[in-house]
This record gives sequence, C-alpha cells and structure tokens, in this order.
Amino acid sequence: MGELDGRVALVTGGARGQGAAEAALFAREGATVVITDVLDEAGERTAGELGGEYLHLDVSSEQEWEANVDAVVARHGRLDVLMNNAGIFKPAQLLNTSTELWDRTVAINQTGVFFGMRTAARAMIAAGNGGSIVNTSSIAGLEGGFGATAYGATKWAVTGMTKTAAKELGKHGIRVNSIHPGVIVTDMIEEMVSGKEDRMASRQPIHRLGKPEDIAEMALFLASDRSSYCTGQAFTVDGGVHG
Ligand SMILES: NC(=O)c1ccc[n+]([C@@H]2O[C@H](COP(=O)([O-])OP(=O)(O)OC[C@H]3O[C@@H](n4cnc5c(N)ncnc54)[C@H](O)[C@@H]3O)[C@@H](O)[C@H]2O)c1
Repeated sequence: MGELDGRVALVTGGARGQGAAEAALFAREGATVVITDVLDEAGERTAGELGGEYLHLDVSSEQEWEANVDAVVARHGRLDVLMNNAGIFKPAQLLNTSTELWDRTVAINQTGVFFGMRTAARAMIAAGNGGSIVNTSSIAGLEGGFGATAYGATKWAVTGMTKTAAKELGKHGIRVNSIHPGVIVTDMIEEMVSGKEDRMASRQPIHRLGKPEDIAEMALFLASDRSSYCTGQAFTVDGGVHG
C-alpha cells in the first residue's frame, strides 16, 4: 500500500532538483504523477525515469495553467495534489535589484503560485474529492535573507497566501501548507555553495547541507492523509538554521 495510491499529483518545476525528488517519491508511493516544467528535455527524461508523464507549463502563464490542469483532469478524472515547487533565485541586494529581476521573480515565484492554487482548487472542488496544495516557500519567507530582496518578497508572499487559501478552502476539504527549505544543494544554488560546503555545513545545527530528498519527505507528509489535520502551516526543513 502506498501513501498516495489512487491520487493524481501535479508537480511544477519537476524536471530536476527538489521537484524531481518529490515527483519520484510521490510515484513510489502510488500516485499518478504529472511533472511540469519549462525544461522540456530534462522534464521528459525525469518523467520517463519514474513512470510519470511530462507537460510543458510555464507557471507564470495563466493560459498554460488552465490548459494543463484541464488536460490532467480530462486524462485522469481528478487532481488531488498540487506541488507548487517551481521557482527562481537570482541573488541581488536591494540597491542592485533591477525592475526586470523584480518583475520576473514575482511572475514566477508569486503569481505562479497564485495561478496554480486558483486553477487547481477549482478543479479539486469540481471533482469533489478534496485535495492537498503544497507551496514551496523558503526560510527567506520566514526571516530576512541577505541579498534576496525580490526572492524574499515572493517567498513571504507564498507564506501568506498559503495561510489565507487554507482558511478559504478548508470547507472544500482542501488543505494548503508551505514548506520552507534551508540550504538544499541543487542547480539553483550550486554557484553559491560550490567549494564552501563544509564551512557552510559546520555553521548549521545539523552539520550537513540539505538534499532534495529531505524536502521530498516533508512534501509526501503534507500531500498524504498523514497530515490530514494540518492546514495553513509553515513547515521548515533546514537543518535547524531558522529558529
Ligand atoms: N535550493 C535551495 O537551497 C532552496 C532553498 C529554499 C527554497 N527553495 C525553493 O525550492 C524550489 C525548488 O528549487 P530547487 O532548489 O529544486 O532549484 P532548481 O533550480 O533545481 O529547480 C527549480 C525548477 O523550477 C523550474 N522553473 C523555473 N522557472 C519556471 C517557470 N517559469 N515555470 C515552470 N518551471 C520553472 C526550473 O526549470 C527547475 O526545474 C524553488 O521554489 C526554490 O525557490 C530552494
């Protein structure tokens, strides 16, 4: 028996990194997994490896959200889990944050999560099975992050939108929670951590940097019925850094 037997899960940004680890774990636990991303080659490869399917979805596009969720429901009859994982991070302090970087970060990290929640919640309500929406924020969505003006703004927005959506969607049996990763070694932060892994790890209460699989375990908990009494909450997975 898998924890997600019979469930249909859509994972954004699932071609690599945390999204790929989440998709793989969801599939191992019995879910039908739809990976979406803008990296089509990597997305097809990852989906093939775990026996799922891949769809192109730029999360900043309202039209692509509508088309993709419609396609998932048409093919599988339902959508049970939305894993809002896609995101970008380009470090820049306030004085060096261009308007272009601000707009792009908001479009993907914030508006993308809004489009995703709204589109998926409508489909979940129509199917009548409830559901679980898991949003990826960051510890930069719980505290100030040096060099993360635009990124931090969007991740705080995700923290807030999660709590608001949870209050509104609870009556439909839809739970909404956020995950707050610390330093997780993926392509996103490779340049930042490369060569400094040991020094960075030694400063954390748990003396290692995070792996995508660490986040996937929390994602599974929140996606599955094991967290059936949790909604509107922020779950930190960061080796003890925030606190
Ligand atoms: N790596 C970390 O230390 C860390 C820490 C805190 C939070 N996060 C968050 O975790 C999530 C996953 O990041 P990751 O570490 O796996 O990085 P990653 O760069 O490996 O993965 C991000 C994925 O999102 C996809 N993506 C980017 N723009 C997109 C768009 N417009 N539409 C659809 N997909 C898009 C990318 O193609 C990529 O596959 C992000 O939301 C990130 O902000 C990461």
